[in-house]
Amino acid sequence: MRVVITGATGFIGRALCRALHKDYEVIALSRDSNRAAKSVGNWAKVVEWDGRTTGSWIQQADGAFAIINLAGENVASGRWNKAKKAGILHSRMDTSRAVLDAIKQTNKKPKVVIQASAIGYYGSRGIERLDENSTAGKGFLADVCRNSETIANQIESLGARCVIIRTGVVLGNGGGALPRIIQPFRFFLGGHIGSGRQWFSWISLEDEVAAIKFLMENENLQGVFNLTAPKPITMKRFCRKLGWVIRRPSWLFFPGFIMRLALGEMAGEVLLSGQRVKPKRLLEAGFEFKHIEVKKALKDIKSQKKKS
Ligand SMILES: NC(=O)c1ccc[n+]([C@@H]2O[C@H](COP(=O)([O-])OP(=O)(O)OC[C@H]3O[C@@H](n4cnc5c(N)ncnc54)[C@H](OP(=O)(O)O)[C@@H]3O)[C@@H](O)[C@H]2O)c1
Repeated sequence: MRVVITGATGFIGRALCRALHKDYEVIALSRDSNRAAKSVGNWAKVVEWDGRTTGSWIQQADGAFAIINLAGENVASGRWNKAKKAGILHSRMDTSRAVLDAIKQTNKKPKVVIQASAIGYYGSRGIERLDENSTAGKGFLADVCRNSETIANQIESLGARCVIIRTGVVLGNGGGALPRIIQPFRFFLGGHIGSGRQWFSWISLEDEVAAIKFLMENENLQGVFNLTAPKPITMKRFCRKLGWVIRRPSWLFFPGFIMRLALGEMAGEVLLSGQRVKPKRLLEAGFEFKHIEVKKALKDIKSQKKKS
């Protein structure tokens, strides 16, 4: 059975290719096939696309068991200027539309399409407890998520099951937010950002990948799922636990206004605000998290790094 993954060369995509390749024929769609071959060539057949239009890659979508759309310009890599914001938004809308158009043109529709979204959908919500029934929030990231979800919602009418994953902050080695959070700790400059009271809804990379596989393989599941660990934590407590695991102090704090000066709007939406999210539908569906406590997740990530 064929699984087509867009954004397969990314942090989550690489781990997913690796996890699926024994049971599935994995096709990695990438804008740069040479780079992709080096990154995921051991676990997937690489096929080039432009991330915007349909093309010969439709042959891969035709009759596929699943299409998993993870592509999109990285949200947390630097200051958001006008061009960066346009890139973040349009990369997600263009790739989602290209997937939708490809499905329209297939003779045999894929059984399931999984569309990446994020808990940024909920905006900045303080201490409010959020689940999949919560309303959308305000802000740039909420708009980005809502736009790509709206496109993905049209997939059901084409006859394929559609699952939208609202992912929290993914913790693992080799990418995502953790290496950037850890960096100052290594120089004994660890600490939280802003008040530290903002909620941090995280998920381990292992659970993220397992949850995507679970949702892909369970044909009764469709619609929106929060991919976050059942126990979110405040930023301040997260930094303390991180410091404990890597044996470095978490004693500083980086005032919000400095972060805003340095990183602009990105700091406000990504670093200084948070969401307290529960993975209600995943738990109801019987998904078993490997990592419920963040300390255990961080310890496992540390020991995996030592082994690699
Ligand atoms: N990591 C997290 O903590 C997290 C949290 C919430 C949501 N998510 C979402 O989950 C998805 C995967 O996350 P990730 O961390 O694996 O992302 P990532 O490491 O930034 O990788 C995303 C991939 O998307 C492709 N891409 C980048 N810019 C693109 C563009 N302009 N047009 C088309 N494709 C483009 C790239 O593949 P090629 O260069 O090979 O084409 C890249 O490898 C993203 O949509 C992200 O927003 C991630």
